[in-house]
Amino acid sequence: MNLLVNIDHIATLRNARGEGYPDPVEAAIVCETAGASGIVFHLRGDRRHIRDEDVARLKKTVKGKLDFEMAATDEMIKILKNTHPHLCTLVPEGREELTTEGGLNMNTVYDDYKERVFPAIRETDIEISLFLDPNIEDIDLAHKLGTDAIELHTGNFANAKSLAERSTEIERLRKAAIYAHQLGIKVNAGHGLNLENFPVLLKEVPHLNEVSIGHALISKAVYLGLDQTVKAYLEIMDSYDK
Ligand code: PXP
Repeated sequence: MNLLVNIDHIATLRNARGEGYPDPVEAAIVCETAGASGIVFHLRGDRRHIRDEDVARLKKTVKGKLDFEMAATDEMIKILKNTHPHLCTLVPEGREELTTEGGLNMNTVYDDYKERVFPAIRETDIEISLFLDPNIEDIDLAHKLGTDAIELHTGNFANAKSLAERSTEIERLRKAAIYAHQLGIKVNAGHGLNLENFPVLLKEVPHLNEVSIGHALISKAVYLGLDQTVKAYLEIMDSYDK
């Protein structure tokens, strides 16, 4: 299993003061040096954190896997092709949302993805991952599109208000991971993961290929340092790697 660190919120902090620091590219180097397998960034339509110039510099600097998280707009597909990362993770994007609020509704996007999005990205060798809630119907449609991977949305699990709700959500994730794996789809996961809930996810959900972790990791790094925080996540992964 690989840890990909989402460095969006290094850019959030930078943009808060309009200075050139902290630099997401410098953060990416620290994460990779600490042992992360790669870096994720989300270039949003409103450029609220990562900006176009960051994307170009990340592409030049990141040595491991580079995951370009994006909404499937024509503008982003053009930047994706120019950037040529290893992986593109397609997400829904709402203008008013604070963060990605859920997985893609595959029923709604299926025709557009089949006719416009997949053919455009399939002109390249960039792998495609679809950010999905752990629903069998969504996974079936993702499979029908020929996706390389899915990223299971772990937000409902992470934000569960009770142990019962957490158990229900982890069971949904477990079943979805097993189902997608059986279909030959790589299974990634992310959203809301932290040092407390991450071990629970790893214990219960098999077949995880990559995990994408941002906000809680960057926040903890304020106290522990980025290098030490990345290592803390890697240590958890080492003890659960199956
Ligand atoms: N995966 C996806 C698709 C996301 O949209 C996000 C948030 O940007 C993450 C993972 C990381 O979530 P978090 O910042 O809560 O760790």
